[in-house]
Amino acid sequence: MTARLSRRGFLGMLGGAAALAALPACGPGATAGSTGEVLTSAVPLPERFRVPLPVPPVARPVGVDGTGAQVYRVTQRVAEAEILPGMRTPVLGYDGIFPGPTFDTRRGQPLVVRHRNELPVPTVVHLHGGHTPAEHDGWPLDLVLPVGRTADRAAHHGMLGDVVVGEREHRYPNDQRAATLWYHDHRMDFTGPAVYRGLAGFHIVRDEVEDALPLPRGERELPLMICDRAFAADGSFAYPGLDQGMRSLPGVEDDWMEGVLGDVVLVNGAPWPVHEVDAARYRLRLLNSSNARRYRLVLTVPGGPDLPWVQIGSDAGLLAAPLEHQVIDIAPGERFDVLVDFSVLPVGTEVTMVNALDPGSAGRVMRFRVVRPAPDDSRVPARLAEVEPLVPPAGEPHRTFRFNRGDVGDHRGWTINGTSFDPDTSLADIRLGETEVWRFVTDVHHPVHVHLDPFQVLRRGTGGPGDFDAGWKDTVDVRPAEVVDVAVRFTDHAGRFLVHCHNLEHEDMAMMATIRTL
Ligand code: C2O
Ligand code: CU
Ligand code: CU
Repeated sequence: MTARLSRRGFLGMLGGAAALAALPACGPGATAGSTGEVLTSAVPLPERFRVPLPVPPVARPVGVDGTGAQVYRVTQRVAEAEILPGMRTPVLGYDGIFPGPTFDTRRGQPLVVRHRNELPVPTVVHLHGGHTPAEHDGWPLDLVLPVGRTADRAAHHGMLGDVVVGEREHRYPNDQRAATLWYHDHRMDFTGPAVYRGLAGFHIVRDEVEDALPLPRGERELPLMICDRAFAADGSFAYPGLDQGMRSLPGVEDDWMEGVLGDVVLVNGAPWPVHEVDAARYRLRLLNSSNARRYRLVLTVPGGPDLPWVQIGSDAGLLAAPLEHQVIDIAPGERFDVLVDFSVLPVGTEVTMVNALDPGSAGRVMRFRVVRPAPDDSRVPARLAEVEPLVPPAGEPHRTFRFNRGDVGDHRGWTINGTSFDPDTSLADIRLGETEVWRFVTDVHHPVHVHLDPFQVLRRGTGGPGDFDAGWKDTVDVRPAEVVDVAVRFTDHAGRFLVHCHNLEHEDMAMMATIRTL
């Protein structure tokens, strides 16, 4: 284990006793909409729109256990992928692939996933958006040490969390609305570099409400995991301080605490891919899995108006009714479930998904090529799902969470309410079943994520919810110097959970808080 874990982990264990000084609410990147610095690739960038879009394979259960849960096995291992044509990139992969296998699941069908760690580094798996009991949620100190590590290594780390060697079984009740979830590494202080090396995959939940809708299915339903990366001269993923190959992961360097941005955009692990589509309606499950990059996605058509996005769902479920957008702003951790109708375009049209927030190479995302006419019986339903409004009790917000730059002693970092992550001190004890109003206040941009249950955005500043806030959210894009109020209600599972910034470098630099449900 590196000194870095002891540094921030140890400070956390002191209970945040160190005095903290918050700096003024401004910083580099504030005007660009998000914070972060670009790491430049040391290889020539590949030609855009050449590599076909990969679709991650669907995980297959290996059986059913005594409780009726479907059992899956995942082996986390190092493997090489051809991401840039002709080059080899080592990845830390679930089953050795990036993105990991997609879990395609049904509401109410519980599953057990046995994760085996054959990587050289400890890991923690979190199901983002999962309504999961605390002991299976992926607490950042519930480490799984690599297979073969000795028990006294475990005992050494055992003071920090529930540390095991080799394997851990995660039980997911999976009793939640149809939605696009994702799973990723969540080890304290190392989430950024671990996710960057490949530890992320989709977990889709389906239900009867969604089954009854005339939505595009099969090949016309695509999960799209969007992230940015930089590449070193040997084709490996470049990350600041990552100079020891795959044998270890460095933590986030102080100079990169704003966030690591890459100059290559990957979709499902391929650089600026192209996908051939029917002239028909498609359902795209957009996920921003980037460490720190925020995108403004637009579908451009040569010589024509942009193709609109029809949003049908957000992070944690379907909307009540579809919502049309010309652009979609998507922050790290967020998902947008959208329909795109290619049937309005002539065969041969090339539709480019661009990122209007970046003037450089990250300004392009991927391309669709309309290649054939095809029948289409899908429709955009006028009503999608019942969305129960969370009715907040009268009065002021219950709790305020301030997301600020802050230093602990002479170490730089990020804080929530002036403290850095402390696994043993809860910033909020919440009664199950009660609706509360939470206020998120930022200095610079912070995408705020809450574990266990989704929330609903009530207002931004003095206005109503923003254009991208509809429905059940588990991550909200809080822009610089903004105040966002959300209604939140936790159910079913009592225990220790998290609120944190989903800019992974901010998260690793301690912008994470323990909360407790009672
Ligand atoms: Cu996607 Cu606590 O994380
Ligand atoms: Cu999460
Ligand atoms: Cu942040």
